[in-house]
Amino acid sequence: MAPVKVSKICCIGAGYVGGPTCAVIALKCPHIQVTIVDLNQARIDAWNSPDFNVPIYEPGLVDVIRGCRGRNLFFSTDVDKAIQEADLIFVSVNTPTKKSGVGAGFAADLHYVESATRRIAAVATSSKIVVEKSTVPCRTAESMRTILEANSKPGCRFDLLSNPEFLAEGTAINDLFAPDRVLIGSLQTQEGKDACASLTEVYANWVPRERILTVGLWSSELTKLAANAMLAQRISSVNALSAICEATGANIEEVANAVGFDSRIGPKFLRASVGFGGSCFQKDILNLVYLSESLHLPEVAAYWRQVVEMNEYQKARFSKTVVDTLFNTITGKHIAVLGFAFKADTGDTRESAAITLIRDFLSERAYVTIYDPKVEEAQIWQDLQEACPTTPLDSIKKYVTIVHSALEACKQKEAIVIATEWKEFKEINWQTVYDQMTKPAFVFDGRMILDVVQLKKIGFTVKVIGRGDRL
Ligand code: UDX
Ligand code: UDX
Repeated sequence: MAPVKVSKICCIGAGYVGGPTCAVIALKCPHIQVTIVDLNQARIDAWNSPDFNVPIYEPGLVDVIRGCRGRNLFFSTDVDKAIQEADLIFVSVNTPTKKSGVGAGFAADLHYVESATRRIAAVATSSKIVVEKSTVPCRTAESMRTILEANSKPGCRFDLLSNPEFLAEGTAINDLFAPDRVLIGSLQTQEGKDACASLTEVYANWVPRERILTVGLWSSELTKLAANAMLAQRISSVNALSAICEATGANIEEVANAVGFDSRIGPKFLRASVGFGGSCFQKDILNLVYLSESLHLPEVAAYWRQVVEMNEYQKARFSKTVVDTLFNTITGKHIAVLGFAFKADTGDTRESAAITLIRDFLSERAYVTIYDPKVEEAQIWQDLQEACPTTPLDSIKKYVTIVHSALEACKQKEAIVIATEWKEFKEINWQTVYDQMTKPAFVFDGRMILDVVQLKKIGFTVKVIGRGDRL
């Protein structure tokens, strides 16, 4: 049998990955009908909102939706209908770290993936190519395949592919328009290769063929974990060096820049920070740790676990610098935290370093005022409540204020902490901020974005990640 020519795609999961990815497929493939489904009615309503008030903030996303919604891109909660009509189905549901049971704190919670897979098997009345897009532990495809085969109706064939997504939030649309690579994993049977060819043809509508890599199913699954682990490892390595810089008077920006000039190392992902966040890095590394342990490879597990531990250390170290610098106590002091998202250009807060910092400040009973240009207020309260589970939200609210501009956040504060590298923080009028602060005025730059020389000239005491005082 020749590879199926894909004409209808269904994507289960209208989140940060499924939404942008399938919207770009629809834009680039006007001959393919794409339906993105989700169980969450409010999320689907937002994707369908007449004024394009879509549920995630991502530069360029609204233009993509405008370009094809209602033409060949549809958002719906009718999961079954979309499954039945499609010849190719992406499974793009979330896979959080397990909170309880075997592997709690490490293993991925696959029950959403499993329930989506069971749904496909239950309602499909024709053959489908099922594509695993969620980040999953190695060999999940095998379980999905078993579920599909055990529950399929006569005449229905399911071919499973792994097609991990490498987009980064904030640059998702560019990453999707011009990906470094598209990775497709399949069984190395004729049917597996045919399914792989069908998906390759979809991407080939805009991605050069030499960038579409086809590999075995398990290599593909492992590559996603490996890529995220290696990226995060670079950050933890540079953050470990930033501690040495602070202790010696070296400057991590200079060190990282000079190191990155080595073409074997390269310049990217060497920016020291207050710690990496996001939905993937920590989760995927912990997955790798869990996988290594279950494969009886404890040294490998310990190696990768250290990348996460270094990240926790970096956050704790930064909080401690704030306390130490403010004369060893922040109790009752007023601190402005600029930025709450885990990186700039996204409203996503998952695993954001800001959450850990604010939790630390609250445990010292400091007053914290937060400003972030994109994060919703309700999200901040939810994150802080989760971070401080034993403190009632009302008590948290006595210590935390959320405001709507950086200037407002900084007024009458003793210290300012930069937690996210939003561009607008570089453009603040620092003289005005200084004039309105309690003196001495401190700035802690966890993202290395400020002009330290200028700030010091104004009168601030400035501490920057990775920069020693002896400079
Ligand atoms: C993605 C990947 O899928 C995840 O595996 C990866 O590790 C991080 O990126 P993301 O798109 O960011 O997840 O997650 P989220 O924004 O939470 O979106 C998942 C969506 O799936 C949610 O809107 C949820 O309502 C939906 N969902 C979940 C379903 O429609 N059906 C389910 O059974 C479960
Ligand atoms: C990451 C991967 O980059 C992407 O390929 C994968 O599909 C999902 O996970 P994302 O989490 O969206 O993407 O953002 P990324 O740009 O990788 O940043 C992750 C975290 O690392 C952020 O908190 C960021 O601030 C931090 N970071 C990044 C640094 O601290 N220093 C750097 O040099 C780069």
